[in-house]
Amino acid sequence: MHMILVTGGAGFIGANFVLDWLTESQESVINLDKLTYAGNLNNLVSLKNDPRHLFIHADINDSETLKKLLSEYQPRAVLHFAAESHVDRSIHGPAAFIQTNVNGTFALLETVRAYWQNLDSDKKSMFRFLHVSTDEVYGTLEADDPPFTETTAYAPNSPYSASKAASDHLVRAYHHTYGLPTLTTNCSNNYGPLHFPEKLIPLVITNARAGKELPIYGDGSQVRDWLYVSDHCAAIRRVLESGIPGETYNIGGWNEKTNLNVVHAICDLLDELQPKENGSYRDQIRHVKDRPGHDKRYAIDARKIERELHWKPAESFETGLRKTVGWYLSNDVWTEQVLSGDYKNWVNLQYQT
Ligand code: NAD
Ligand code: DAU
Repeated sequence: MHMILVTGGAGFIGANFVLDWLTESQESVINLDKLTYAGNLNNLVSLKNDPRHLFIHADINDSETLKKLLSEYQPRAVLHFAAESHVDRSIHGPAAFIQTNVNGTFALLETVRAYWQNLDSDKKSMFRFLHVSTDEVYGTLEADDPPFTETTAYAPNSPYSASKAASDHLVRAYHHTYGLPTLTTNCSNNYGPLHFPEKLIPLVITNARAGKELPIYGDGSQVRDWLYVSDHCAAIRRVLESGIPGETYNIGGWNEKTNLNVVHAICDLLDELQPKENGSYRDQIRHVKDRPGHDKRYAIDARKIERELHWKPAESFETGLRKTVGWYLSNDVWTEQVLSGDYKNWVNLQYQT
């Protein structure tokens, strides 16, 4: 029986991926996650009695545990989602980003390489290591620059994006030097269910509903290219199935929006779906101090994956955002659990100083 191993499958994209995978396929998943502040077993509660899902609480730096898992379960692929993922946290404390994104990816690659090299030739050629990365490795764009392609030079600007760039380079080197069959995906901003409310969209939805301020860094003119998370999951499945080892694929939603546009759209949806007694949610918007080194614009040219692997996003920003706001309106228990933990310390550090 084939199976796959996923790292970081209790986080936002990883959990969406595991849930989608087990809906689309019968193939089992080993889900290895350290359960940092961003990892949440409530994301996986619907899999509690599903024998196809095996959760392992471990760090990707723990090579001994990983080695045992690979040897026992012989996965046909490793999909690497685990990372420290929040730019603002990387500005306050970059060390964890180096430890997980750089050292952790290196430890994972080393253990996977040793496993892969000992597979028989059929399994060896079938095996894939899929590395999930970000468009932030390409740096920032001016308003009239063309979007990032797979050949855009790396120019990471934050400790987060620099650590992801380092991990991408390691993955590339393991293919080039050892022949490990790697696939790298560089994706734009995801949004959707299970998104931790430190990131813009879920933060604005939860703050708006709690009557709190909606903090916009600087003038809110920065642009991001939004991708609904289940579209991202479908793209990853497609790359795993048909991607060419050693290649990278950019994944984006063709949805460039300024931060101000995004926040207005959320307020307008909430005004429609859960109107306030007086006024609009837009009244809660506040401009706050800007993020240091704030990248102006990200935009993905996703034509390679469309041309070569026949993937394109199913959701527009309007349909995806409506689903997302609807999900948060229907999942108060999930949100309350997330907000009650260490999250409060983060909010004090980032927004009260
Ligand atoms: P997330 O922060 O929501 O989740 C990360 C998960 O990794 C958590 O479950 C956490 O517990 C786990 N983890 C962290 N350190 C670990 C370690 N040392 N060992 C094992 N597990 C560990 O992140 P996300 O938003 O789901 O992002 C997933 C991946 O996608 C990341 O690699 C990120 O760089 C990339 N990415 C994210 C976005 C986005 O918009 N969220 C866009 C492009 C790429
Ligand atoms: O582009 C892909 C990247 O998208 C991923 O690699 C990262 O893991 C993911 O966190 C995301 O990074 P961003 O920095 O773009 O996402 P964030 O949600 O933190 O911010 C989106 C934009 O909104 C950014 O321009 C900063 C702004 N912002 C964010 C927050 C949290 C605000 O204006 N106010 C806020 O309170």
